[in-house]
Amino acid sequence: MKIKKAVIPVAGLGTRFLPASKAIPKEMLTIVDRPTIQYIVEEIVASGIEEIILVTSEGKSAIENHFDYNFELETILKNKNKHELCEEVCNISNLIDIVSVRQKKPLGLGHAILTTRNVVGDNPFVVLLGDDLVQSDVPCCQQMLDLFDEFQQPVVAIQQVADNQTHQYGIIEGEKIRDRVYEVKRMVEKPAPGTVDSNLAIIGRYILMPEIFDLLANTTPGHGGEIQLTDALQALSKRRPMYAYEFEGTRFDAGDKIGYLKAIIAFALRHPVLADEFRKHLKEVAAGI
Ligand code: G1P
Repeated sequence: MKIKKAVIPVAGLGTRFLPASKAIPKEMLTIVDRPTIQYIVEEIVASGIEEIILVTSEGKSAIENHFDYNFELETILKNKNKHELCEEVCNISNLIDIVSVRQKKPLGLGHAILTTRNVVGDNPFVVLLGDDLVQSDVPCCQQMLDLFDEFQQPVVAIQQVADNQTHQYGIIEGEKIRDRVYEVKRMVEKPAPGTVDSNLAIIGRYILMPEIFDLLANTTPGHGGEIQLTDALQALSKRRPMYAYEFEGTRFDAGDKIGYLKAIIAFALRHPVLADEFRKHLKEVAAGI
């Protein structure tokens, strides 16, 4: 079964990024030369997905505009003979079909996913959280789709985190079945320190089955009074096998100020045009510290 749709929830307020995110969606903050969300969309496109569903809220229209045509800008660029730039701007709108649904109340990640029910329909789909950037040779989403091809069961991406950070994540307990792959036994959203026997943290990549929607509809508010995707996944893991996958690559929490700075450096060092000069500059900076 080929997965064709990806959901990106972008309705969150971005409080960790205030004041920068007061009037600009945090997903539109720039990493080197494009907004954070464009990296996520490019990862999805590179993984062969055909349609993206954005879950938005008030104040997020800049994201939709970024992936739409801008005839005025394109005409001005053409008239100024800036053809390369014009093509680059056009290419963003040609990347993939994008539809949006509105999350009318901020009731949590699980609720955001539930709002896509009618648009996703009756097929497995992927979810990518807009804050989590992964730099990797094979796109993280593609790595997960490869595992799904084999198991035909839900998959969550995980990474090991320090014991004193487990309370910031959804944590899985599982049985390792081979290199990088665990069968999930239990999942807990942001467990209190010392209450779980694992440091395997869910990062923002999921492959879900449509039956998650019924489970989400019946999920009561959990951590932080919100409807948590992790709680619905825990219920799903009781019904069918579920796998956790330690992806290959480096993940950045671009919704957090220090994670964002680290992401800028990592992506700048891989930029086809800017990398050499930037590396030289970083060495000069490091020598002066
Ligand atoms: C969400 C999920 C959490 C996951 C995290 C990864 O939390 O609820 O399970 O570990 O994303 O970034 P949030 O960071 O939105 O609070």
